[in-house]
Amino acid sequence: MSPAHTPKSSLPPLLGRGPQGVFRRTLPSEQPTGERMVRTLGLTQLTMIGIGAIIGAGIFSLAAAVARDVAGPAVLISFLVAGAASLCAAFAYAEFAGMVPKAGSSYTYCAAVLGELVGWIVGWDLLLEYTAIVAVVAIGMSGYLGFLLNSVGLDLPTWALGAPGTGAGHKVDLLAIVICLGVAWLLTRGTRTSARVETVLTIIKIAIVLLVIVVGFTKVNTDNLSPFAPFGLSGAFTGAATVFFAVFGYDALSTAAEESVEARKKLPKAMMISLAVSMGLYVLVCVVLTGLQNYKELNPSSGISSAFASVGLNGFANLIAVGAVIGIVTVTFSFMMGASRLWYALSRDGLMPAWFGAIHPKRRVPHRATWVIGVVSAVLAGVLPINAVAELTNIGVLLAFVVVSAAVLVLRYRKPDLKRGFRCPGMPVVPILGILFSVWLMSFLKWETWFRLGIWLAVGLVIYAAYGYRRTRQVMPGDSVDLDALNEMPDSDEPEGRLAPL
Ligand code: ALA
Repeated sequence: MSPAHTPKSSLPPLLGRGPQGVFRRTLPSEQPTGERMVRTLGLTQLTMIGIGAIIGAGIFSLAAAVARDVAGPAVLISFLVAGAASLCAAFAYAEFAGMVPKAGSSYTYCAAVLGELVGWIVGWDLLLEYTAIVAVVAIGMSGYLGFLLNSVGLDLPTWALGAPGTGAGHKVDLLAIVICLGVAWLLTRGTRTSARVETVLTIIKIAIVLLVIVVGFTKVNTDNLSPFAPFGLSGAFTGAATVFFAVFGYDALSTAAEESVEARKKLPKAMMISLAVSMGLYVLVCVVLTGLQNYKELNPSSGISSAFASVGLNGFANLIAVGAVIGIVTVTFSFMMGASRLWYALSRDGLMPAWFGAIHPKRRVPHRATWVIGVVSAVLAGVLPINAVAELTNIGVLLAFVVVSAAVLVLRYRKPDLKRGFRCPGMPVVPILGILFSVWLMSFLKWETWFRLGIWLAVGLVIYAAYGYRRTRQVMPGDSVDLDALNEMPDSDEPEGRLAPL
């Protein structure tokens, strides 16, 4: 669009949608072939990456803590409320994924519809959240892994057992560091290789969760389920803000758009299937968890394993601990992949230095961004207690859900006729509900969490003012893009099955 066609606005140019305006709408350009990632992921791998990201520490660790402290057996309601909020946002993500086959996910969607600055804020926010999630789940897993090593007679030295302040003599969480660096190494082997490992691990995880359900139902004592809501409905709602951690992950999946075959069709499907499967499993696991053991006696750190041990199934409890470890590895994998693809997109568009976004000439993955995220998450996981990191994550993801739901609403009214691979149902109620649910869940979080998010966003604004604003205009000069260009972005150029192995 030439400046001559830009509608007149009373806003100063800096706040407008023109070439100098921070709200100009941007869309990434196509990269030369050698600098692109390759499309190798089909519906199965995408669904596995989605389930891999969703089922993890939330159900294995947080469910028991929430049931014991704030919800009782009504933790089931907490999961359903959090799941409903997440579903509303998932519809919005799926509509965008069905339109924009680009790696940046929420960042790219928001930059295209609400403008460059909003896109940057969401991208910068998620970069922190996804890296923090990798650290949180690595810390959670290191606890289970330490428990398993201990059960086969292997003990780590005390200094390596946890971050300072988490126990006498603890200096660093060595296992969490090894996990973060190990997953970064796997991801730099190439998308196809790492997706294969992720698929196998996710299948094992689903199998173990199914075993939990089948074996668990034979041991449920219905007396434990009554009273169902000992803390009232308000307890169940408070619990929803915490177990919200368990119900996101498909958003990280959408960052894989440039590695998906027929992304417009397959990504929305993979998101919906992975959320539906995970919610079905969660509901049944909640009944088993609170039916096996009285909610007051649940163990918050190894909830499901301990519940089975309490009914005499000790061997099975160990098997579940293995499942928890595997389950959590898949979460680290999906979120580290999400963070590196997001970083790649921000670098490609000039909002971060291009050095980070470089694609490895042979493996075709953003290897530098992956290693930086691997090292940063290893440092966070190695030296910070889990709570300090965990509190940061939900608020950032909820913020992204609010903005993406708003963007889908805006785009549907501005450009109702654009071709969409998936249409969010129930317009405008569903995205509005997504916004309201997310804001409501955010209102339960502590002020310290809001404060930390505020600091991170302020740092982001300084980086944008000092670097991104100028550089992105060199990389993507010009006026706001025409939103019809969304339909012109190439999707799959090679049919699935005819892809050369990496
Ligand atoms: N949904 C992911 C988990 O529960 C983040 O671990």
